[in-house]
Amino acid sequence: MTLEGFPQSLALRDGTLVTVRPLEAADAKAVQAFYRSLPEEDRLYLKDDVTDAGWLQRFVALVASGEVVSLIGEREGKVVAEASLYRALRGWSTHVGELRISVARALRRDGLGTALARELVKIATRLGIDKIMIEVVENQAGARRMFRRLGFRQEAVLRGHVKDINGTKRNLVLASTDVSHIWDAMEALVADFSPSQE
Ligand SMILES: CC(C)(COP(=O)(O)OP(=O)(O)OC[C@H]1O[C@@H](n2cnc3c(N)ncnc32)[C@H](O)[C@@H]1OP(=O)(O)O)[C@@H](O)C(=O)NCCC(=O)NCCS
Repeated sequence: MTLEGFPQSLALRDGTLVTVRPLEAADAKAVQAFYRSLPEEDRLYLKDDVTDAGWLQRFVALVASGEVVSLIGEREGKVVAEASLYRALRGWSTHVGELRISVARALRRDGLGTALARELVKIATRLGIDKIMIEVVENQAGARRMFRRLGFRQEAVLRGHVKDINGTKRNLVLASTDVSHIWDAMEALVADFSPSQE
């Protein structure tokens, strides 16, 4: 799938410039290096073992098939963020997408996570998706807050549904929003701060 309007250069709240563009197969190693550089505390609650070579191969195949749209953030030749939109190509939920976003620690709280969510929502709209989900472990306070600000509301809590990488069972929160609601929330946030395109 060809995505229009990329690469983009985003200026974060502190002025840092990040290039955002769709992931290509050739980026696989750089994405793996990014995920491997995240501290265990961050990887603890990610759905997949993103450091595993097998995961990377499957992920690149999902991107090639169109089941996943992945954007990466780059700075000084390194991947500093990865954001994915997962969708079903068949079946009764082709109108639903799921977002997963990771940002390097050094660049957090400067609007990059929100900017990547916004770009994926734009893409989702073009793909005919009208409901967006997230699945987060109850303890992921920062992620839950970011998505709450974007208009996501809790739909369900699945008790003990997740075993983190240490084997501890955690509750999984499913939250969602309609695409139109995200736009309303994003417009409200623009008044606050929105990374600008250079
Ligand atoms: C969640 C994550 C993607 C947020 O990325 P980010 O670039 O820091 O997000 P933003 O700067 O756009 O944050 C937007 C808002 O979310 C909230 N927020 C984000 N991180 C927060 C934290 N650690 N604590 C409290 N609030 C937080 C704040 O309200 C923030 O706005 P503010 O900085 O003006 O107060 C990032 O923390 C991350 O990669 N976490 C590890 C992976 C993860 O949990 N991913 C989510 C699974 S889908």
